[in-house]
Amino acid sequence: MQDLELLSMAREALSNAYAPYSDYKVGAALLTSAGRVFRGVNVENASYGLTICAERAALFSAVATGYRHFSVLAVVSEEAQKPIPCGGCLQVLREFGKDLKVIVAGKEEEFLVFKLEELLPYPFISESV
Ligand code: THU
Repeated sequence: MQDLELLSMAREALSNAYAPYSDYKVGAALLTSAGRVFRGVNVENASYGLTICAERAALFSAVATGYRHFSVLAVVSEEAQKPIPCGGCLQVLREFGKDLKVIVAGKEEEFLVFKLEELLPYPFISESV
């Protein structure tokens, strides 16, 4: 699957984002190594700290369905500010491998491409998995 196609799937998810507090909607589309795509959106809460980011929502949906190997994650917002995944999401994504490609776009068509390792060079790795 092409990066642009995955970005547009993440963009489609944006309309489901629930962000009444920040008004910053985020959509994510996570491509599994098997070729399936799982979407996620940020879901905020009146108790702000319970908010979940779009990236983790997509990842947890994929894991809950039985997928643990991922190749590309697309994350988009409808603002000028690109939604570079937060440190918490990077650590959670890293649990499932270091080779993930992460593509990020705001409202403009241009997008940034990273390797997960570049965004989180020193993750905490447990020796029990
Ligand atoms: N957010 C995400 O969902 N992903 C990101 O990459 C950055 C931030 C959400 C969390 C919160 O709902 C809103 O964006 C503002 O921080």
